[in-house]
Amino acid sequence: MDLASIPETMCRVNTALADRTTFQIGGPAAWLIDPPDERSFAELYAAAVRTGNPVYILGAGSNLLIDDAGVPGIVLSTLRLRERRAGADGTRLRVGAGVRLGGVVRWAARRGLAGLERLIGIPGTMGGAVKMNAGVREGSIGERVSRVWLAGTDGRVHVREGYEIGWAYRATDIAGPILAVEVRLDREDPARTETRLLAAMAKRCAAQPVDEPSAGCFFKNPPGDSAGRLIDASGLKGRTVGGACVSTRHANFIVNRGNATAADVFALCDIVCKRVRKDFGVSLEKEVCCWPYATA
Ligand code: EPU
Repeated sequence: MDLASIPETMCRVNTALADRTTFQIGGPAAWLIDPPDERSFAELYAAAVRTGNPVYILGAGSNLLIDDAGVPGIVLSTLRLRERRAGADGTRLRVGAGVRLGGVVRWAARRGLAGLERLIGIPGTMGGAVKMNAGVREGSIGERVSRVWLAGTDGRVHVREGYEIGWAYRATDIAGPILAVEVRLDREDPARTETRLLAAMAKRCAAQPVDEPSAGCFFKNPPGDSAGRLIDASGLKGRTVGGACVSTRHANFIVNRGNATAADVFALCDIVCKRVRKDFGVSLEKEVCCWPYATA
């Protein structure tokens, strides 16, 4: 399969991406492809790579800052990879990369399948969450992943076992697009699982600006400390550049007050980094992925 033979319903040219991100920021994609299933995703990924253009994988766009000039390459969306299947004993779930993590967490908790509930409120897809080992202080998703299906540049679907994957803080060694994920859960009384779910949700809503457009925590936590605490202690809550603002609720969130550009966010990010380095000698590293500077 090559790009020229892709039906128009699946491949659009010069398509807006801002609405496909939780930040609601960024220019268009040169090409945007929405493969309908895992097999065609793998074939289209290989075809995209063969063109020599940069290739980007888009899920819920929840940890992403897209440049105002857009993305001069091929963006493949995982959002149509939505299959869900439970294993024979019910404690293993195979979930398509485009399924929202929050939906899986709630679905599992209601059935008394424990292990993911602390991740409630993380706004990405399963594919995105696994690729960057999303998590909270108490643990990350990688601890529950038993298997991952990946698209190869040969156009085929490859499998990696969870124990073979290098899991690190908000990072993995997974190369190429994730098509599906299998998670391993524990049986528990559904009332207990749901109680933990509600507690985690309440904690997040109290501490984070969940009702404003953002890309989640903007910076990684430096070892042994919290980026939010450092930015707050530097007096930067409420600091604004254009439409971008350091959240007054949690200082490690940059929120879009309605008309922010990527340039606003980068300028604000620069101010924050310089001030925290000056005040505490700590160099903050972005957790948010920036396009077009980083590809899949
Ligand atoms: N703090 C402040 N001011 C702030 C924010 C935080 O003083 O504006 C202090 C808090 O009082 C607390 C400490 O910093 O003593 C840590 O704050 P918090 O518990 O909110 O955790 P965090 O380290 O800032 C991490 C994750 C979050 C995750 C929370 C809850 C990272 C970069 N952040 O935040 O993940 O939701 O723990 O477990 O790992 C994300 O990855 O996008 C994200 C939001």
